[in-house]
Amino acid sequence: MLKNGTQGFRNTVATRYFTDRRNDNEAYIKRIARHVTNIDMDDSMFGNPVTTEINGHIVSQDLINSMFEIEAMDIDFSRIKSVCEVGAGYGRTAYVLLKRFPHLKYTIIDISPALDLAREHLTKEFPNADITFLRVPDKSLGADLYIAISVLTELSEKELADYFEMFATGKYLYFKDWKSKVNPDNGTTFSEDSFPIPSKWKRMFKRDDPITYNFYDAMYKIT
Ligand SMILES: C[S@@+](CC[C@H](N)C(=O)[O-])C[C@H]1O[C@@H](n2cnc3c(N)ncnc32)[C@H](O)[C@@H]1O
Repeated sequence: MLKNGTQGFRNTVATRYFTDRRNDNEAYIKRIARHVTNIDMDDSMFGNPVTTEINGHIVSQDLINSMFEIEAMDIDFSRIKSVCEVGAGYGRTAYVLLKRFPHLKYTIIDISPALDLAREHLTKEFPNADITFLRVPDKSLGADLYIAISVLTELSEKELADYFEMFATGKYLYFKDWKSKVNPDNGTTFSEDSFPIPSKWKRMFKRDDPITYNFYDAMYKIT
């Protein structure tokens, strides 16, 4: 990105990140697509992703992962008014949610440079949507649904506590992360058990992620 701006970053991520499948990216997208039942849209071309065609739609591995996460949530989105996503990256999950459910009021909380990427991406794709971009948690937000994908294990203990205080103001929390990861702050190992989840929250599901090795996702009903 420093060299070429935002034009090609999804291409280099797809071919050089840990999900890299060398010259096999299109076949990889087709393979992981079998975990999704409803492929109903083209991906955005922001960042020039590696894509293939499935059911007449232009799809990327990010689009498939986002659809997979949203199918797992298994809630009636017509009853969800507000979503707050922490650590949204360039906004791949927000893209699918806002395409399917344009009524959503969406808040993204992230740090630079991801926050600026998400702003550039989502305001271009959804010029009329109600999207707010924040840099720190808002502990009075009260969103219906909180989403935190591959971010909780990047936070310090203080940040984690602050974010869980904010989540407690909502109705549902969906998160996805490494099954275990060493916390660079203090050398302890992160797992779901190390998150400060109040015992009164009801876990709706927890499963191993069949797409991304060593990941799991889980969802909680908060109130
Ligand atoms: C591995 S990326 C995941 C991005 C996105 N959720 C996805 O799955 O494509 C981690 C994200 O967490 C964000 N992040 C890191 N520290 C954060 C913090 N203190 N508050 C909010 N977001 C943070 C990063 O900027 C980045 O957007």
